[in-house]
Amino acid sequence: MAGSVFDVVRKRRSIRAYKEQEIPKDLIEKLLTATFFSPSSRNRRPWHFVMVTDKAMIQKLSQVTHSSSSFASGAPLMIAVCADSNIAGRWIEDSSIATTITQLMVTELGLGSCWIQVRDNIHKEGQTAEEYVRELLRIPPSIRVLNLVAIGYPGEEKSPHHDSEYMPDRVHWEVF
Ligand SMILES: Cc1cc2nc3c(=O)[nH]c(=O)nc-3n(C[C@H](O)[C@H](O)[C@H](O)COP(=O)(O)O)c2cc1C
Repeated sequence: MAGSVFDVVRKRRSIRAYKEQEIPKDLIEKLLTATFFSPSSRNRRPWHFVMVTDKAMIQKLSQVTHSSSSFASGAPLMIAVCADSNIAGRWIEDSSIATTITQLMVTELGLGSCWIQVRDNIHKEGQTAEEYVRELLRIPPSIRVLNLVAIGYPGEEKSPHHDSEYMPDRVHWEVF
């Protein structure tokens, strides 16, 4: 396990290749527990998470946006991060934060993950990525889908982030 928050944040990378190895249920439970600690606007907690482990379904989901999602076909777990936009106007922010917490916890647990954008993406002419995922996973119309998070034991190694990525010219003290 990694150590401090700083170490985990540094270590988190988008991992797009996965071992076939299944993820034990207790790790998935831990991941979900951490995710539900996420902050949300007005504490509305509008999230819904569809946990997909069925290989055939994961294969279909990995076709959601083709080139930017096909890498995920062999992932042992995919999470559709959703939210009830009727109870939370800030559902995009709420779901994005939950995704980030998930991805950091994934790193902490020695797993790897990658965000696959669904909201505002196209599956094919005449069908949005969101409609495609909604249909496959039987998500009701009132529930919005932000993304899919592909998760598995890393099948590729990536260097942790480096201090040189810090961009001092983007930091504006006191005024812009
Ligand atoms: C809002 C958002 C959407 C993203 N969508 C995709 C995607 O559809 N497919 C993909 O492979 N990676 C996607 N990514 C991952 C980024 O490409 C990745 O975070 C970025 O290249 C930085 O690399 P790192 O995560 O290893 O630090 C997305 C990330 C974010 C935050």
